[in-house]
Amino acid sequence: MRMEKSSLLSALLLLLAILSGQCKKTHIEGDPFSICVHRNHQGRVSPSSVETENCTPLAQTIDLAGQFNNEDNSNSEMNNWVPRSSNVVCVDEFGAKGDGENDDTKAFNNAWSKACSSAPAVFLVPHGKKYLVKPIKFSGPCKSALTMQVSGTIIAPADPRVWDGLNRRQWLRFKEVDDLTVEGGGIFYGSGEQWWAESCKINKTNPCRPAPTAITFELCNNLRVMNLIVQNSQQMHIKFRKCVGVKADNLKVLAPGHSPNTDGIHVSASKDVVIKNTITGTGDDCISIVSDSFNIYIENITCGPGHGISIGSLGEGSAKARVADVMVHGAFLHNTTNGLRIKTWQGSSGSARRILFQNVHMENVKHPIIIDQYYCDSKKPCSNKTSAVKVSEVAYLNIKGTSASKEVMRFACSQTVPCENILLADIDLTATSGCTPTTYCENAIGCTTGSVSPHSCLQNYNQKGIFEFGIPVSIDRRKGKQEKKDYISHLQR
Ligand SMILES: *[C@@H]1O[C@H](CO)[C@@H](O)[C@H](O)[C@H]1NC(C)=O
Ligand SMILES: *[C@@H]1O[C@H](CO)[C@@H](O)[C@H](O)[C@H]1NC(C)=O
Ligand SMILES: *[C@@H]1O[C@H](CO)[C@@H](O)[C@H](O)[C@H]1NC(C)=O
Ligand SMILES: *[C@@H]1O[C@H](CO)[C@@H](O)[C@H](O)[C@H]1NC(C)=O
Repeated sequence: MRMEKSSLLSALLLLLAILSGQCKKTHIEGDPFSICVHRNHQGRVSPSSVETENCTPLAQTIDLAGQFNNEDNSNSEMNNWVPRSSNVVCVDEFGAKGDGENDDTKAFNNAWSKACSSAPAVFLVPHGKKYLVKPIKFSGPCKSALTMQVSGTIIAPADPRVWDGLNRRQWLRFKEVDDLTVEGGGIFYGSGEQWWAESCKINKTNPCRPAPTAITFELCNNLRVMNLIVQNSQQMHIKFRKCVGVKADNLKVLAPGHSPNTDGIHVSASKDVVIKNTITGTGDDCISIVSDSFNIYIENITCGPGHGISIGSLGEGSAKARVADVMVHGAFLHNTTNGLRIKTWQGSSGSARRILFQNVHMENVKHPIIIDQYYCDSKKPCSNKTSAVKVSEVAYLNIKGTSASKEVMRFACSQTVPCENILLADIDLTATSGCTPTTYCENAIGCTTGSVSPHSCLQNYNQKGIFEFGIPVSIDRRKGKQEKKDYISHLQR
């Protein structure tokens, strides 16, 4: 963490310098282009996967603490809640067959009740088996911290009719479970093919109806989701909603590029979220962040195919939207329709601000940098309206690579609520076709530093205000608070 913090700090100091004064040429210190090769990491891969061929309870203590990555290990306070020895609740003991054909939903329900009321507990889905599970809710609050260790495969019914009479929006749903860890090297398989075929985006004669999110975490505080594969979801893959303190690490989220609305990771109304070391390739946004989300830190992400990293859409149906302190620090995007996108609907209100995209490499991305305040994802065209979500304090630092289209930067902002305080620094984007790349600006105000190619079309004006980004959040909110204090006092010095 140290290395990336200092580079982040230098970037921030640079921003301060730029935005408090003139937009003059400044050298960016440290952090040379380091996509996918962050130097200060040891890249722990699949740490855990307690070997559990059959359901032999894990006699040994599960050393969950050993699974945290380095920066966390040094913080012993943080590991306090981790059980040193646990009651293992294995789904097989509750009658789950794990043959991919029998319905194991009831066994999962009963095992959950047991695990949730034990302290501390590990809910175990053993390795080497495939459990067919219908829509299910894992509700809290639980007696204490809980680990769901998924080492096998959990598979969804393929037939959408299984959802008749049930909530079509979810398959696996965790609600109000605090201090939850889901991990184990296993697979969540959404069997989404039939849902996709029936989607109104694919079969235009069908009405548009919701389809399930594979895994929803709602009102889950202090959550870790690590070392898992989530594949072929019916619609979105992983959703965090109204959660505080989330760490998603070492995930693979996979679906074909043609699968409709299959966002990788969706963050909604959540705070203090870290998403790192994750590969997503789906048919929609790799990561999407929507309203009431704050302090979102994204690091070492690979994305493609898909629609890129997206803030929004915001403000659908004239809603008020607020998003602030989003940092993307190190990403590789390939063959995506968008790269770094902020999209808002017309007629909305609120703000999207303090957004930093840094060290991003793109390959063959259609719209590498885009702010679109005319976003319209509906069958009918959207009419022009005057109000909009205010987009400001957005920085793009060290963004390089190739675009599949000629227009590599697009800032299409509202006439009445222009985009302000946009910063471009060290941009080098070329068009794959060899065409001369172009930029498009409409009501976009900002400045540049370092070398920016193709050249910026932002309206230049010097902002009075300075902006300060949030800091990388730690899963431990107490620690996070201290870091923030240190950080702010550093800024004030
Ligand atoms: C589209 O959906 C309709 C009604 O569900 C169905 O009759 C039709 O066969 C579908 N078309 C295709 C191409 O799958
Ligand atoms: C970045 O994430 C990938 C997995 O997506 C991992 O293999 C790699 O080790 C990570 N890099 C670092 C430096 O942590
Ligand atoms: C992008 O797509 C092209 C054509 O589909 C494929 O040949 C290429 O390997 C892909 N590149 C990456 C980096 O995914
Ligand atoms: C709406 O605004 C856009 C952007 O300024 C403009 O291109 C378009 O013509 C407008 N549409 C209508 C119907 O006025």
